[in-house]
Amino acid sequence: MFRVTRRYEFSASHRLHAVQLSEAENRVLYGKCNNPYGHGHNYVIDVSVRGPLDAATGRAVDTKRLDQLVGQHVLKPFDHRNLNTEVPLFGVVVPTSENLGFEICRRLKRHWKEVFPGDWPKLEKIRIEETPRNIFEVGAHEIE
Ligand code: NI
Repeated sequence: MFRVTRRYEFSASHRLHAVQLSEAENRVLYGKCNNPYGHGHNYVIDVSVRGPLDAATGRAVDTKRLDQLVGQHVLKPFDHRNLNTEVPLFGVVVPTSENLGFEICRRLKRHWKEVFPGDWPKLEKIRIEETPRNIFEVGAHEIE
């Protein structure tokens, strides 16, 4: 069994602001990340996949297919976007990297079988590097 990780990048802006809290509470909670006009990140997304080695190809995952999946359902809708206003979920849910990780995982799982119809490979985890100091991981089995 192999674990294969492929790295992707996209740039997007966001503002951390919880609608159920007051303006003052948001400022205290999120600090400069609550600035009204938002700020950008160059997100590095590591997608980890698990599967047995295919004897014929000598590979555990067809990375071209993974690229298609991530490209269509993550990079295209998120790259050079304002996450709060251009991704419907983040009009309601705060676009923290935790929530971004959940959403990326959900999207990949939802469309996984279209690209990988067999038993393998399986999605294992998503790792998001928001900045060199802020890194977030979520296991694919941890979400619906
Ligand atoms: Ni930020």
